[in-house]
Amino acid sequence: MNPIKKNKFSIIFNHDGYVELAEYIENNNFKKILILTDDNSKENCLDIFISSLSATNNQVSNLIDSSLFYYSVKPGENSKNIETSIEVWKFLIDKGFKRSDLIINLGGGMITDLGGFVASTFMRGVKFVNVPTTLLGMVDASIGGKTGIDHREIKNIIGVFEFAKIILIDYRFLNTLTKRQKTAGYAEMIKHSLICEKSEFDMIKKVDSVDEIPHEMIYKSITTKISIVDIDPHESSIRKFLNYGHTLGHAIESYLLGSNTELLHGEAIAIGIVLESYLSYLKTGFDFEQVNDIKRYINKHFSSVKFSDSDIYEIINLLKYDKKNSDDKAMFVLLKDLGEPLFNQVVTAKEIVDAFKFYKD
Ligand code: GLY
Repeated sequence: MNPIKKNKFSIIFNHDGYVELAEYIENNNFKKILILTDDNSKENCLDIFISSLSATNNQVSNLIDSSLFYYSVKPGENSKNIETSIEVWKFLIDKGFKRSDLIINLGGGMITDLGGFVASTFMRGVKFVNVPTTLLGMVDASIGGKTGIDHREIKNIIGVFEFAKIILIDYRFLNTLTKRQKTAGYAEMIKHSLICEKSEFDMIKKVDSVDEIPHEMIYKSITTKISIVDIDPHESSIRKFLNYGHTLGHAIESYLLGSNTELLHGEAIAIGIVLESYLSYLKTGFDFEQVNDIKRYINKHFSSVKFSDSDIYEIINLLKYDKKNSDDKAMFVLLKDLGEPLFNQVVTAKEIVDAFKFYKD
């Protein structure tokens, strides 16, 4: 698979990724390297990662033998907070890490967001590499320089933009995921297909099972994201398109966080996509047949979630804390057509309630 090389970062695939990372480690002569994992990626991916990196050449094998440190956190969004960040900073201080050292984030979106944040703020910035182990991480979270943590139930409210130097994508890690995790990542691929080109959603719809997503399709999803981030890395304009499904998706995710119906990020985004497709129909005249088609396809892959009137009220209340909003108004990305997103669209609370009704029916 062709590498994607940009000024600020490179995305390298499979064996080539390990060769590139080995060279990067040798050339920079890092004295200490932290591998940050969660307990899942530690158990399922760490050995594959270390043995693949060591196998690239003897020199790097010796180098990493003497310089590697490990830190693992509990899996799940609940770890993406200031307390965990403090634990990792403390570990780095105790082990004598310097600004000239390296952090490798091996895990899903929670780890690359948290690890990127910890790295970017430790001693005003330590270099970091992302090795996404989930589908969501591969197509979205590990790419594009967004790092951050949640605080007071608000997703990603604290964070900085800083690019990982290398993003190493090893498709073997997809085999370590549960169907639920793959499906959640697939939501971001569906989102990319809706905002990208008219024909892309038709391609996505050909996928019957998340166990059979062609790697070419994952690659295409990555290039969609990069084509946007390249033009607008700091989200002053078109990067907002990537928030399709996220205004309500984030509010739903935050609302259910810690409850016994807690959703994975992608599962909340899938609901957000249905709701915001309906809002698109209300506000921009997006074809209702397309909206139904999107809903049908999402319902085929994701279980439906029930929301009471008071849940919906609380979710709408959470919107005002969303970073995407200004002037206390909920700002949405809506579709005028497939592949034709519009940002900064204002929607009323009543329209959101109607969208939940559409989702439920
Ligand atoms: N996940 C949306 C973005 O990276 O902008």
